[in-house]
Amino acid sequence: MGISRGKQENCSPSSAKVEKKGKFLALDLGGTNFRVILLELDSSLELNCQVKYYTVPESLRLGEGELLFDFLAECIESFLKDNNLLGQKLPLGFCFSFPMDQTGIDEGILVTWTKSFNCPNVVGHEVVKILKNALEKRKDVAIDVVAIINDTTGTMMMGSYLDKRSAIGLILGTGCNASYFEKVERIHKWEGKHEGITEVIIDIEWGAFGDNGILDFMKTEVDKIVDENSLIVNSFTFEKLFSGKYIGEIVKQILLQLIDKNVLFHEVKLKPQNWTFTAADVSHSLEGKDLEKISDILKSKGFLETTLDDAEIVYYVCSVVSVRGSLIVSICLSSLLRRMDKKDVTIAVDGSLFKLHPKYKHYMEKFIAELAPNHKFQLILAEDGSGKGAGLVAAVVTSLDRSKLHA
Ligand code: GLC
Repeated sequence: MGISRGKQENCSPSSAKVEKKGKFLALDLGGTNFRVILLELDSSLELNCQVKYYTVPESLRLGEGELLFDFLAECIESFLKDNNLLGQKLPLGFCFSFPMDQTGIDEGILVTWTKSFNCPNVVGHEVVKILKNALEKRKDVAIDVVAIINDTTGTMMMGSYLDKRSAIGLILGTGCNASYFEKVERIHKWEGKHEGITEVIIDIEWGAFGDNGILDFMKTEVDKIVDENSLIVNSFTFEKLFSGKYIGEIVKQILLQLIDKNVLFHEVKLKPQNWTFTAADVSHSLEGKDLEKISDILKSKGFLETTLDDAEIVYYVCSVVSVRGSLIVSICLSSLLRRMDKKDVTIAVDGSLFKLHPKYKHYMEKFIAELAPNHKFQLILAEDGSGKGAGLVAAVVTSLDRSKLHA
């Protein structure tokens, strides 16, 4: 299998400091782009970082699990070769952005695939082991996989280096999820040793909130269609209401109903059949209320004779769907703020929807302030936090006694 590669980029954050110098690798698997990252901590403990993106083809995202991990190993080998690191025993942190039962810092059993992945024979299996098996097939690769984390945890970790008040990590991208600091005394299910620990990071996996039917009361006809058209039906109910993988499809389904009711595109003579509306289209449509720009987006999809009224309607639909999404996520974040009851909390956020959408951040700030009055908070962008956070975790883990890190 050939690998399609992007160019390598420098991705050093401006103010990150950690306590262990050296070179660390990180992998970031969760979306259609797989990232390999090299973090270097120099003698002044500044963080330098190089990242390279590899597209994971659909055939691998939906194919046999072993082939997916072989592909990851192939990308790692190619990255090491390009950076003259073949044969070096580097610690690696694996950011695996899917629900897992985490039984140790370097052990995670996949609970279910989400988003654009659905490879048979991985669910119920320990993922680091599968990665290690794939790496062992490559004789010049001597990587030591020391940690596996969720992207929300990575984002919180990266957030902590940017701002010490970080206590929530949020991903608002293809999927949506958050992690937060919980008091150990509130966790009744934790059976392992945890003497001396007062707080622990919980990966909420709130994307699956509502899978038991509890959110059915608020699901619209459109939400039901979006679910039916999704890769794994009846799962990840909450995430499908607004996250980047679905927000464009929600808008599209509403537009289709408006076309059907003859409210939209009266003057379009030939309506295209196979068109998509993406999260990026939603973001671009809301940039500065530029109706000409929206008309151009619609043209690029094959709707040629649109009017400014059509563009205005599309703008309105994108706004309503975005307001609903930002409100829903704000309700959950404000509950977390109230539950944690800390003096001042920074919410570290990563993900394309947060980065590219012109209004999400503003809406969230407004809604959270209304829903959690008396709780000081700020939203900060922890860019590429997921992957870089995994590298930072690898740096921390190598400085600790690893035998104590198992549940
Ligand atoms: C999905 C995954 C979750 C991840 C989120 C954001 O909800 O289940 O683990 O954190 O997407 O990438």
